[in-house]
Amino acid sequence: MKIAVLKERRADERRVAATPETVKKFTALGAEVVIEAGAGAAVHIQDNDFQAAGAAIAANAADALAGADVLLKVRRPIMPGEEGPDELGLMHAGQVLIAMLNPLIRRADCDAYAAAGIDAYAMELMPRISRAQSMDVMSSQANLAGYKSVLDATEEYGRALPMMMTAAGTIAPAKVFVMGAGVAGLQAIATARRLGAVVSATDVRPVAKEQVQSLGAKFVMVEDEESAQAETEAGYAKEMSEAYKKKQADLIAETIAKQDIVICTALIPGRAAPVLVDAAMVASMKPGSVIVDLAVENGGNCALSEMGQVIDVNGVKIIGHANFPARLAVDASNLYARNLFNFLSPHIDGETGALSFDFEDETVSGVCLTRDGAVIHPMLSAKE
Ligand code: NAI
Repeated sequence: MKIAVLKERRADERRVAATPETVKKFTALGAEVVIEAGAGAAVHIQDNDFQAAGAAIAANAADALAGADVLLKVRRPIMPGEEGPDELGLMHAGQVLIAMLNPLIRRADCDAYAAAGIDAYAMELMPRISRAQSMDVMSSQANLAGYKSVLDATEEYGRALPMMMTAAGTIAPAKVFVMGAGVAGLQAIATARRLGAVVSATDVRPVAKEQVQSLGAKFVMVEDEESAQAETEAGYAKEMSEAYKKKQADLIAETIAKQDIVICTALIPGRAAPVLVDAAMVASMKPGSVIVDLAVENGGNCALSEMGQVIDVNGVKIIGHANFPARLAVDASNLYARNLFNFLSPHIDGETGALSFDFEDETVSGVCLTRDGAVIHPMLSAKE
Protein backbone atom coordinates (compact mmCIF):
# COMPACT_ATOMS: atom_id res chain seq x y z
CA MET A 1 0.00 0.00 0.00
CA LYS A 2 1.19 3.44 -0.87
CA ILE A 3 0.21 6.33 1.42
CA ALA A 4 0.44 9.90 0.14
CA VAL A 5 0.64 12.96 2.37
CA LEU A 6 0.12 16.38 0.84
CA LYS A 7 1.09 19.84 1.92
CA GLU A 8 -2.02 21.55 3.30
CA ARG A 9 -3.05 24.41 1.05
CA ARG A 10 -5.85 26.13 2.95
CA ALA A 11 -5.13 29.56 4.39
CA ASP A 12 -4.18 29.41 8.10
CA GLU A 13 -3.43 25.70 7.95
CA ARG A 14 0.00 24.82 9.27
CA ARG A 15 -0.60 21.24 10.37
CA VAL A 16 0.52 18.12 8.53
CA ALA A 17 -1.08 14.67 8.53
CA ALA A 18 2.08 12.63 9.11
CA THR A 19 5.26 13.01 11.13
CA PRO A 20 8.57 11.14 10.95
CA GLU A 21 7.29 9.06 13.89
CA THR A 22 4.18 7.86 12.04
CA VAL A 23 6.09 7.42 8.77
CA LYS A 24 8.45 5.09 10.59
CA LYS A 25 5.55 3.13 12.04
CA PHE A 26 3.74 2.85 8.70
CA THR A 27 6.88 1.68 6.90
CA ALA A 28 7.53 -0.86 9.67
CA LEU A 29 4.13 -2.32 8.76
CA GLY A 30 5.24 -2.66 5.13
CA ALA A 31 3.50 0.43 3.74
CA GLU A 32 5.20 2.92 1.43
CA VAL A 33 4.85 6.60 2.33
CA VAL A 34 5.26 9.47 -0.13
CA ILE A 35 5.31 13.01 1.19
CA GLU A 36 4.88 16.09 -0.95
CA ALA A 37 7.96 18.31 -0.66
CA GLY A 38 7.55 20.97 2.01
CA ALA A 39 4.54 19.30 3.66
CA GLY A 40 6.06 19.57 7.14
CA ALA A 41 7.86 22.91 6.73
CA ALA A 42 5.40 24.91 8.84
CA VAL A 43 5.91 22.53 11.78
CA HIS A 44 9.70 22.40 11.40
CA ILE A 45 9.77 18.95 9.82
CA GLN A 46 12.10 19.04 6.85
CA ASP A 47 11.86 16.75 3.83
CA ASN A 48 15.07 14.99 4.90
CA ASP A 49 13.52 14.25 8.33
CA PHE A 50 10.72 12.44 6.53
CA GLN A 51 13.25 10.71 4.26
CA ALA A 52 15.29 9.57 7.24
CA ALA A 53 12.12 8.00 8.63
CA GLY A 54 11.66 6.01 5.41
CA ALA A 55 9.42 8.22 3.25
CA ALA A 56 9.95 9.16 -0.38
CA ILE A 57 9.59 12.85 -1.26
CA ALA A 58 7.50 13.86 -4.29
CA ALA A 59 8.10 17.18 -5.98
CA ASN A 60 4.41 18.11 -6.07
CA ALA A 61 0.93 16.94 -5.08
CA ALA A 62 0.18 15.20 -8.37
CA ASP A 63 3.40 13.19 -8.17
CA ALA A 64 2.69 12.26 -4.53
CA LEU A 65 -0.76 11.03 -5.48
CA ALA A 66 0.31 9.05 -8.56
CA GLY A 67 -0.22 5.40 -7.74
CA ALA A 68 -1.19 6.14 -4.12
CA ASP A 69 -3.83 3.99 -2.46
CA VAL A 70 -4.49 6.31 0.46
CA LEU A 71 -4.29 10.07 0.89
CA LEU A 72 -3.86 11.38 4.43
CA LYS A 73 -4.81 15.01 4.90
CA VAL A 74 -5.63 17.37 7.72
CA ARG A 75 -8.38 19.45 6.10
CA ARG A 76 -10.94 18.52 3.45
CA PRO A 77 -9.64 18.87 -0.11
CA ILE A 78 -10.15 22.20 -1.84
CA MET A 79 -13.11 21.62 -4.16
CA PRO A 80 -13.70 23.09 -7.63
CA GLY A 81 -15.03 26.62 -7.24
CA GLU A 82 -13.26 27.21 -3.91
CA GLU A 83 -10.29 29.50 -3.59
CA GLY A 84 -7.06 27.63 -4.33
CA PRO A 85 -6.10 24.67 -6.48
CA ASP A 86 -8.69 21.91 -7.03
CA GLU A 87 -7.31 19.21 -4.73
CA LEU A 88 -10.10 16.74 -5.35
CA GLY A 89 -9.29 16.94 -9.06
CA LEU A 90 -5.81 15.59 -8.30
CA MET A 91 -7.22 12.36 -6.90
CA HIS A 92 -8.07 9.21 -8.84
CA ALA A 93 -11.01 6.81 -8.66
CA GLY A 94 -10.34 4.03 -6.19
CA GLN A 95 -8.20 6.11 -3.85
CA VAL A 96 -8.99 6.37 -0.16
CA LEU A 97 -9.18 9.85 1.39
CA ILE A 98 -8.79 10.20 5.15
CA ALA A 99 -9.08 13.68 6.70
CA MET A 100 -11.29 16.01 8.70
CA LEU A 101 -13.95 16.35 6.01
CA ASN A 102 -16.71 18.16 7.93
CA PRO A 103 -19.30 15.97 6.16
CA LEU A 104 -22.41 17.00 8.08
CA ILE A 105 -21.95 20.60 6.98
CA ARG A 106 -20.25 19.90 3.64
CA ARG A 107 -22.85 17.40 2.47
CA ALA A 108 -22.39 18.18 -1.24
CA ASP A 109 -18.68 17.34 -0.99
CA CYS A 110 -19.66 13.79 -0.08
CA ASP A 111 -21.57 13.43 -3.35
CA ALA A 112 -18.50 14.75 -5.15
CA TYR A 113 -16.26 12.15 -3.46
CA ALA A 114 -18.69 9.41 -4.46
CA ALA A 115 -18.95 10.70 -8.04
CA ALA A 116 -15.15 10.76 -8.27
CA GLY A 117 -14.99 7.17 -7.01
CA ILE A 118 -13.10 8.21 -3.87
CA ASP A 119 -13.68 6.23 -0.67
CA ALA A 120 -13.78 9.03 1.88
CA TYR A 121 -13.35 8.69 5.65
CA ALA A 122 -14.15 11.61 7.96
CA MET A 123 -12.16 11.39 11.17
CA GLU A 124 -14.54 13.74 13.03
CA LEU A 125 -17.18 11.03 13.02
CA MET A 126 -15.08 8.60 15.06
CA PRO A 127 -17.44 6.92 17.54
CA ARG A 128 -16.89 7.99 21.12
CA ILE A 129 -16.08 4.58 22.50
CA SER A 130 -13.13 3.83 24.81
CA ARG A 131 -11.32 1.80 22.16
CA ALA A 132 -11.42 4.74 19.75
CA GLN A 133 -10.03 7.38 22.10
CA SER A 134 -6.58 7.12 20.55
CA MET A 135 -8.14 7.82 17.12
CA ASP A 136 -10.32 10.72 18.25
CA VAL A 137 -9.17 13.77 16.33
CA MET A 138 -11.89 15.97 17.78
CA SER A 139 -10.48 15.37 21.24
CA SER A 140 -6.81 15.69 20.35
CA GLN A 141 -7.34 18.95 18.51
CA ALA A 142 -9.96 20.44 20.86
CA ASN A 143 -7.72 19.85 23.85
CA LEU A 144 -5.00 22.03 22.33
CA ALA A 145 -7.54 24.62 21.18
CA GLY A 146 -8.89 24.91 24.72
CA TYR A 147 -5.42 25.51 26.12
CA LYS A 148 -4.50 28.04 23.45
CA SER A 149 -7.78 29.94 23.84
CA VAL A 150 -6.80 30.89 27.40
CA LEU A 151 -3.31 31.96 26.36
CA ASP A 152 -4.76 34.07 23.55
CA ALA A 153 -7.17 35.66 26.02
CA THR A 154 -4.34 36.54 28.40
CA GLU A 155 -2.52 38.26 25.58
CA GLU A 156 -5.43 40.61 24.88
CA TYR A 157 -6.25 41.05 28.58
CA GLY A 158 -4.26 43.95 29.90
CA ARG A 159 -4.09 42.58 33.41
CA ALA A 160 -2.68 39.64 35.36
CA LEU A 161 -4.68 36.46 35.97
CA PRO A 162 -3.52 35.35 39.41
CA MET A 163 -4.04 37.13 42.67
CA MET A 164 -0.80 38.88 43.59
CA MET A 165 -0.02 40.34 46.96
CA THR A 166 2.71 42.90 46.57
CA ALA A 167 4.17 45.69 48.67
CA ALA A 168 2.30 48.10 46.43
CA GLY A 169 -1.01 46.40 47.04
CA THR A 170 -3.02 43.36 46.04
CA ILE A 171 -4.09 42.48 42.51
CA ALA A 172 -7.41 40.64 42.41
CA PRO A 173 -7.53 37.38 40.43
CA ALA A 174 -9.25 37.46 37.03
CA LYS A 175 -12.67 35.85 36.71
CA VAL A 176 -12.83 33.42 33.79
CA PHE A 177 -16.09 31.85 32.59
CA VAL A 178 -15.95 28.86 30.25
CA MET A 179 -19.04 28.11 28.17
CA GLY A 180 -19.22 24.48 27.10
CA ALA A 181 -17.30 22.02 29.26
CA GLY A 182 -16.38 19.40 26.67
CA VAL A 183 -12.81 18.56 25.75
CA ALA A 184 -11.80 22.13 24.84
CA GLY A 185 -13.71 23.69 27.72
CA LEU A 186 -12.24 21.37 30.34
CA GLN A 187 -8.74 22.09 29.10
CA ALA A 188 -9.52 25.83 29.15
CA ILE A 189 -10.70 25.50 32.76
CA ALA A 190 -7.56 23.61 33.75
CA THR A 191 -5.33 26.14 31.99
CA ALA A 192 -7.06 29.18 33.50
CA ARG A 193 -6.88 27.56 36.95
CA ARG A 194 -3.16 26.91 36.53
CA LEU A 195 -2.74 30.59 35.71
CA GLY A 196 -4.48 31.49 38.95
CA ALA A 197 -7.85 32.72 37.71
CA VAL A 198 -11.14 32.18 39.52
CA VAL A 199 -12.97 29.92 37.07
CA SER A 200 -16.61 29.02 36.51
CA ALA A 201 -18.16 27.09 33.65
CA THR A 202 -21.46 26.05 32.14
CA ASP A 203 -22.72 23.22 29.96
CA VAL A 204 -26.05 21.69 29.05
CA ARG A 205 -24.87 18.16 29.81
CA PRO A 206 -25.31 17.51 33.54
CA VAL A 207 -22.37 15.07 33.61
CA ALA A 208 -20.14 18.06 32.97
CA LYS A 209 -20.89 19.36 36.47
CA GLU A 210 -18.70 16.87 38.25
CA GLN A 211 -15.91 17.25 35.69
CA VAL A 212 -15.96 21.03 36.07
CA GLN A 213 -15.96 20.83 39.84
CA SER A 214 -13.16 18.28 39.89
CA LEU A 215 -10.99 20.87 38.13
CA GLY A 216 -11.71 23.37 40.87
CA ALA A 217 -14.21 25.50 38.96
CA LYS A 218 -17.77 26.46 39.85
CA PHE A 219 -20.59 25.00 37.72
CA VAL A 220 -23.24 27.42 36.46
CA MET A 221 -26.31 25.77 34.96
CA VAL A 222 -30.10 25.74 35.02
CA GLU A 223 -30.77 22.27 36.37
CA ASP A 224 -34.22 20.91 35.49
CA GLU A 225 -35.88 17.85 33.93
CA GLU A 226 -34.82 18.80 30.44
CA SER A 227 -31.20 19.31 31.34
CA ALA A 228 -31.16 15.84 32.90
CA GLN A 229 -31.62 14.46 29.35
CA ALA A 230 -29.40 16.84 27.42
CA GLU A 231 -26.85 14.30 26.27
CA THR A 232 -27.15 11.91 23.33
CA GLU A 233 -26.02 8.32 23.66
CA ALA A 234 -22.90 9.30 21.74
CA GLY A 235 -21.96 11.78 24.48
CA TYR A 236 -22.73 14.98 22.57
CA ALA A 237 -25.09 17.80 23.43
CA LYS A 238 -28.67 17.84 22.11
CA GLU A 239 -30.45 20.95 20.84
CA MET A 240 -32.38 22.36 23.83
CA SER A 241 -35.97 23.76 23.91
CA GLU A 242 -36.66 27.48 23.57
CA ALA A 243 -37.89 27.64 27.19
CA TYR A 244 -34.70 26.06 28.50
CA LYS A 245 -32.57 28.33 26.36
CA LYS A 246 -34.34 31.41 27.80
CA LYS A 247 -33.81 30.33 31.43
CA GLN A 248 -30.22 29.50 30.73
CA ALA A 249 -29.67 32.80 28.89
CA ASP A 250 -30.91 34.76 31.93
CA LEU A 251 -28.54 32.97 34.28
CA ILE A 252 -25.69 33.32 31.82
CA ALA A 253 -26.39 37.04 31.35
CA GLU A 254 -26.08 37.60 35.09
CA THR A 255 -22.87 35.60 35.21
CA ILE A 256 -21.23 37.15 32.16
CA ALA A 257 -21.64 40.71 33.44
CA LYS A 258 -19.23 39.83 36.28
CA GLN A 259 -16.50 38.20 34.17
CA ASP A 260 -13.13 39.41 32.94
CA ILE A 261 -12.64 36.64 30.39
CA VAL A 262 -15.25 34.46 28.69
CA ILE A 263 -14.12 31.41 26.71
CA CYS A 264 -16.81 30.03 24.38
CA THR A 265 -16.50 26.39 23.28
CA ALA A 266 -20.13 25.21 22.91
CA LEU A 267 -20.85 23.07 19.87
CA ILE A 268 -23.61 20.79 18.64
CA PRO A 269 -22.36 18.34 16.00
CA GLY A 270 -23.72 18.96 12.51
CA ARG A 271 -25.50 22.19 13.49
CA ALA A 272 -24.69 25.84 13.86
CA ALA A 273 -23.13 26.63 17.24
CA PRO A 274 -25.65 27.93 19.80
CA VAL A 275 -25.51 31.70 20.26
CA LEU A 276 -24.94 32.11 23.99
CA VAL A 277 -23.50 35.63 24.25
CA ASP A 278 -25.60 38.33 22.62
CA ALA A 279 -24.80 41.99 22.03
CA ALA A 280 -26.43 43.06 25.32
CA MET A 281 -24.27 40.61 27.26
CA VAL A 282 -21.16 41.95 25.56
CA ALA A 283 -22.27 45.48 26.48
CA SER A 284 -22.71 44.38 30.11
CA MET A 285 -19.03 43.44 30.40
CA LYS A 286 -16.40 45.84 31.76
CA PRO A 287 -14.10 47.56 29.24
CA GLY A 288 -10.86 45.58 29.14
CA SER A 289 -12.70 42.24 29.28
CA VAL A 290 -12.03 39.56 26.68
CA ILE A 291 -14.21 37.01 24.92
CA VAL A 292 -12.68 34.12 22.97
CA ASP A 293 -15.03 32.39 20.54
CA LEU A 294 -13.71 28.93 19.72
CA ALA A 295 -17.02 28.17 17.99
CA VAL A 296 -16.58 30.98 15.46
CA GLU A 297 -16.08 28.56 12.54
CA ASN A 298 -19.48 27.05 13.26
CA GLY A 299 -21.23 30.40 13.38
CA GLY A 300 -19.97 31.45 16.82
CA ASN A 301 -21.27 31.34 20.40
CA CYS A 302 -20.95 35.13 20.53
CA ALA A 303 -23.27 37.05 18.22
CA LEU A 304 -20.61 39.69 17.52
CA SER A 305 -17.52 37.57 16.89
CA GLU A 306 -15.97 37.70 13.45
CA MET A 307 -14.05 34.81 12.00
CA GLY A 308 -10.34 35.41 11.75
CA GLN A 309 -10.57 38.75 13.57
CA VAL A 310 -9.92 40.27 16.97
CA ILE A 311 -12.48 43.05 17.34
CA ASP A 312 -13.06 45.69 19.99
CA VAL A 313 -16.64 46.42 21.01
CA ASN A 314 -16.67 49.36 23.41
CA GLY A 315 -13.49 48.14 25.07
CA VAL A 316 -14.41 44.44 25.09
CA LYS A 317 -12.06 42.44 22.88
CA ILE A 318 -13.66 39.55 20.99
CA ILE A 319 -11.19 37.00 19.65
CA GLY A 320 -12.44 35.00 16.66
CA HIS A 321 -9.31 33.32 15.35
CA ALA A 322 -10.05 30.61 12.82
CA ASN A 323 -8.49 27.21 13.37
CA PHE A 324 -7.17 27.33 16.93
CA PRO A 325 -5.47 23.91 16.77
CA ALA A 326 -3.27 25.18 13.93
CA ARG A 327 -2.01 27.89 16.30
CA LEU A 328 -0.19 25.06 18.09
CA ALA A 329 0.57 23.26 14.85
CA VAL A 330 3.51 21.18 16.07
CA ASP A 331 1.63 19.47 18.89
CA ALA A 332 -1.59 19.37 16.88
CA SER A 333 0.20 17.62 14.00
CA ASN A 334 1.91 15.12 16.29
CA LEU A 335 -1.38 14.13 17.90
CA TYR A 336 -3.38 14.16 14.67
CA ALA A 337 -0.79 12.04 12.85
CA ARG A 338 -0.92 9.50 15.70
CA ASN A 339 -4.71 9.49 15.57
CA LEU A 340 -4.48 8.58 11.87
CA PHE A 341 -1.91 5.86 12.48
CA ASN A 342 -3.99 4.36 15.29
CA PHE A 343 -7.03 4.34 12.99
CA LEU A 344 -5.33 2.78 9.97
CA SER A 345 -2.80 0.39 11.48
CA PRO A 346 -5.23 -2.34 12.64
CA HIS A 347 -6.30 -2.73 9.00
CA ILE A 348 -2.82 -3.06 7.50
CA ASP A 349 -1.56 -6.57 6.93
CA GLY A 350 1.78 -6.64 8.78
CA GLU A 351 3.29 -9.08 6.26
CA THR A 352 2.23 -7.63 2.93
CA GLY A 353 1.60 -4.03 3.96
CA ALA A 354 -1.78 -4.19 2.19
CA LEU A 355 -4.78 -2.24 3.46
CA SER A 356 -8.06 -4.03 3.98
CA PHE A 357 -10.66 -2.20 6.06
CA ASP A 358 -12.76 -4.33 8.37
CA PHE A 359 -16.28 -2.94 7.97
CA GLU A 360 -17.47 -4.94 10.96
CA ASP A 361 -15.32 -2.58 13.02
CA GLU A 362 -17.34 0.48 14.06
CA THR A 363 -14.28 2.70 13.95
CA VAL A 364 -14.35 2.04 10.18
CA SER A 365 -18.08 1.96 9.46
CA GLY A 366 -18.55 4.96 11.77
CA VAL A 367 -16.29 7.22 9.71
CA CYS A 368 -16.70 5.88 6.15
CA LEU A 369 -18.70 8.36 4.07
CA THR A 370 -18.46 6.94 0.57
CA ARG A 371 -17.59 3.54 -0.82
CA ASP A 372 -17.51 2.20 -4.38
CA GLY A 373 -19.12 5.34 -5.79
CA ALA A 374 -21.96 5.67 -3.27
CA VAL A 375 -22.59 7.75 -0.16
CA ILE A 376 -23.08 5.12 2.53
CA HIS A 377 -22.88 6.85 5.91
CA PRO A 378 -26.25 6.62 7.71
CA MET A 379 -25.99 10.20 9.00
CA LEU A 380 -25.70 11.40 5.42
CA SER A 381 -28.32 9.24 3.76
CA ALA A 382 -30.83 10.32 6.45
CA LYS A 383 -30.46 13.89 5.16
CA GLU A 384 -31.31 13.03 1.56
P1 NAI B 1 -18.33 19.42 21.49
O1 NAI B 1 -17.06 20.01 20.98
O2 NAI B 1 -19.32 18.90 20.51
O3 NAI B 1 -19.09 20.53 22.38
C1 NAI B 1 -18.41 21.25 23.38
C2 NAI B 1 -19.28 21.37 24.61
O4 NAI B 1 -20.32 22.32 24.39
C3 NAI B 1 -19.98 20.07 25.01
O5 NAI B 1 -19.62 19.74 26.33
C4 NAI B 1 -21.45 20.42 24.89
O6 NAI B 1 -22.26 19.73 25.83
C5 NAI B 1 -21.43 21.91 25.13
N1 NAI B 1 -22.66 22.63 24.72
C6 NAI B 1 -23.44 22.45 23.62
N2 NAI B 1 -24.47 23.32 23.64
C7 NAI B 1 -24.33 24.10 24.74
C8 NAI B 1 -25.07 25.18 25.30
N3 NAI B 1 -26.18 25.63 24.72
N4 NAI B 1 -24.62 25.73 26.45
C9 NAI B 1 -23.52 25.28 27.07
N5 NAI B 1 -22.78 24.25 26.59
C10 NAI B 1 -23.17 23.67 25.45
O7 NAI B 1 -18.06 18.27 22.53
P2 NAI B 1 -16.70 17.53 22.88
O8 NAI B 1 -15.86 18.43 23.66
O9 NAI B 1 -16.08 16.97 21.65
O10 NAI B 1 -17.14 16.27 23.78
C11 NAI B 1 -18.22 16.23 24.66
C12 NAI B 1 -18.02 15.04 25.60
O11 NAI B 1 -17.86 13.81 24.88
C13 NAI B 1 -16.74 15.08 26.44
O12 NAI B 1 -16.78 15.90 27.54
C14 NAI B 1 -16.58 13.64 26.84
O13 NAI B 1 -17.35 13.34 27.98
C15 NAI B 1 -17.13 12.90 25.68
N6 NAI B 1 -16.02 12.30 24.91
C16 NAI B 1 -15.86 10.94 24.88
C17 NAI B 1 -14.82 10.38 24.18
C18 NAI B 1 -14.65 8.90 24.11
O14 NAI B 1 -15.17 8.19 24.95
N7 NAI B 1 -13.95 8.39 23.12
C19 NAI B 1 -13.84 11.20 23.47
C20 NAI B 1 -14.09 12.62 23.58
C21 NAI B 1 -15.14 13.12 24.26
